Amino acid sequence: MATVNIQNVTKAFGDNVVLREFSATFRDGEFITLLGPSGCGKTTMLRIIAGFEKPTSGEVFIDGTLVSGGKTFIPPEKRGIGMVFQSYAVWPHMNVFDNVAYPLTIRHVPRAEIRTSVERVLGIVHLSRYADRFPSQLSGGQQQRVALARALIAEPKLLLLDEPLSNLDAKLRESMRFEIKEIQRRLGITVVYVTHDQTEAMTMSDRIFLINRGEIQQCGTPQEIYNNPVNQFVADFLGKVDFFKGEAKDGRIVFPAMGGQSIPYAGPRTGKVDVAIRPENLFFAEDGVLQGVLETQYYLGDVDDCRVRVGDTLVRVITNGYDHQSLRDGQAVSLGVRDFMVFEDDGLLEQMLEINT
Ligand SMILES: Nc1ncnc2c1ncn2[C@@H]1O[C@H](COP(=O)(O)OP(=O)(O)O)[C@@H](O)[C@H]1O
Ligand SMILES: [Mg+2]
Repeated sequence: MATVNIQNVTKAFGDNVVLREFSATFRDGEFITLLGPSGCGKTTMLRIIAGFEKPTSGEVFIDGTLVSGGKTFIPPEKRGIGMVFQSYAVWPHMNVFDNVAYPLTIRHVPRAEIRTSVERVLGIVHLSRYADRFPSQLSGGQQQRVALARALIAEPKLLLLDEPLSNLDAKLRESMRFEIKEIQRRLGITVVYVTHDQTEAMTMSDRIFLINRGEIQQCGTPQEIYNNPVNQFVADFLGKVDFFKGEAKDGRIVFPAMGGQSIPYAGPRTGKVDVAIRPENLFFAEDGVLQGVLETQYYLGDVDDCRVRVGDTLVRVITNGYDHQSLRDGQAVSLGVRDFMVFEDDGLLEQMLEINT
């Protein structure tokens, strides 16, 4: 087990500052995910922890020992780290046994000891019967488990995983999530996992660090981040959300683009606000707070995905498939709101939407 302490790490490639004053502490045995859009600096942070990259400024400590910072630099092979990358880094000319044994072979560990270790980790990743196979005879998921076994064989106290599932198909990705999580629990190691996939982050992590443009936006448990996002970026990145421009006053929020319709609001903000509503928090009600017209509905079995026109605004409503009601397109409907989030209208949303469009 290991702790990781990152203090004010900044990293620039030439003029391009890709990490800015990054500070974080990962505790013993935690499953940590660095989550964020492509290019936000996740891989760079992981490579700095591993020692493949040096920070421009700031320090990294592993188990309280300074490994990067100032004049100190401990090379990757001395950091007690296992690492798995996105592409299956298994050698095609070696069978599974030799691939997994490799880190011990190059250290000239006695053959009998290597055999015991390989059998142990192949058991952990459920590949005991595949020791003699070559990578070309394995599925993508099995190859990635070979890479995982090889990362685990030297019994690292810290395991770094960089989008290890992104080359796998959807079903395999889902089952591998549980396998990796289960392995981490069983071995009690600290894992730092990099992904741009919010579902992966939500299902596996003890804590998520959500990053945008090299800066931590929020860190917390999946529940904390999902339910209490600190800004519009976080709300938008985790789960589905629609934003509406509103005006908070007199215990209500009024939406000009919804023909001036409003919803009750008991919170502290006044004036211009961005209201974020998750489509699953809207529902068809007898006597709801927003009145509109049903434009389209898609029955997907588990859910109904609908669009309702409220004034000039198209609102997305996702209802549970069990509650499926036969509604006609063009029918007048009333919407109830279970929950919503209110942010200061700080112009961030416009910036965000510019990026997205
Ligand atoms: N070795 C490098 N030299 C120059 N720029 C780099 C290098 N590695 C990464 N970058 C840049 O740093 C930024 C962050 O990259 P990266 O950490 O790979 O992001 P992520 O893993 O979140 O997609 C990108 O703009 C990328 O082009
Ligand atoms: Mg990356």
